[in-house]
Amino acid sequence: MGKIIALANQKGGVGKTTTAINLAASLATLEKKVLLIDADPQANASSGLGVDIRKVENTIYECLIGKCEPRNAICSTDVEGLGLISSHIDLVGAEIEMLNLERRESVMREIITPLKDDYDFILIDCSPSLGLITVNALTAADSVIIPVQCEYFALEGISKLLNTIKLIKQKLNPPLDIEGFLLTMFDSRLRLSNQVLDEVRRHFQELVFNTVIQRNVRLSEAPSHGLPAILYDADSRGAQNYLALAQEILTRNGLVS
Ligand SMILES: Nc1ncnc2c1ncn2[C@@H]1O[C@H](COP(=O)(O)OP(=O)(O)OP(=O)(O)O)[C@@H](O)[C@H]1O
Ligand SMILES: [Mg+2]
Repeated sequence: MGKIIALANQKGGVGKTTTAINLAASLATLEKKVLLIDADPQANASSGLGVDIRKVENTIYECLIGKCEPRNAICSTDVEGLGLISSHIDLVGAEIEMLNLERRESVMREIITPLKDDYDFILIDCSPSLGLITVNALTAADSVIIPVQCEYFALEGISKLLNTIKLIKQKLNPPLDIEGFLLTMFDSRLRLSNQVLDEVRRHFQELVFNTVIQRNVRLSEAPSHGLPAILYDADSRGAQNYLALAQEILTRNGLVS
């Protein structure tokens, strides 16, 4: 039975999508079966994995409004063992179309739970908002990874996110767990990066991954080639950091023999 992990932080540009793409590719490289669901209308995870989003017929949008079975929306990627359900700008409209549904927060859970048997991990890349689609992702998820950028105001908005997670646990998804806080875009030469690292570790202690994602230009170049870093430049620090993260997650989940 696979584990569903959402990547969430309503702060923009903190590394959610970079983490979704590269963690998914790393887990697949470690021979896990992985599905990445792009739940952001910006569709960066889809284009970053080389999907031409203008040509995809069935996306998470069609799945959420009941026009397509999720199994029929899965595209293959260049990474063996990694499938993708793309997104589309229309997903913005799904929030409105879903407003009148009775169990509007649980639509994603209902449609993706049947896929859990087919995958070891299902990752959901969320948009920088705490709107209905993100609430759906957190209601469907077993756990959440919270990327935190090593920058000024890193912890801004985290209490709001944690409060949302608390409410979702109370009302919609009691077992929802925090998989971990992930420090991203770390630059060891900068005092600021080290200060953020210390502060986040002091606040959240063992909930912070040991693996830290360094700032690495390969990670920002790879999406324009439609590739995860591990296929674009496997020796790059970024690719190696995400492989280490995948290994840490497998160990934490007792999946390494
Ligand atoms: N470790 C890194 N090193 C260098 N650049 C990075 C790193 N992580 C992310 N970036 C770059 O930072 C920008 C923001 O990253 P990303 O798109 O992953 O954030 P996001 O949280 O998904 O953003 P949004 O909130 O808009 O969805 C992108 O241009 C990405 O290429
Ligand atoms: Mg993103």
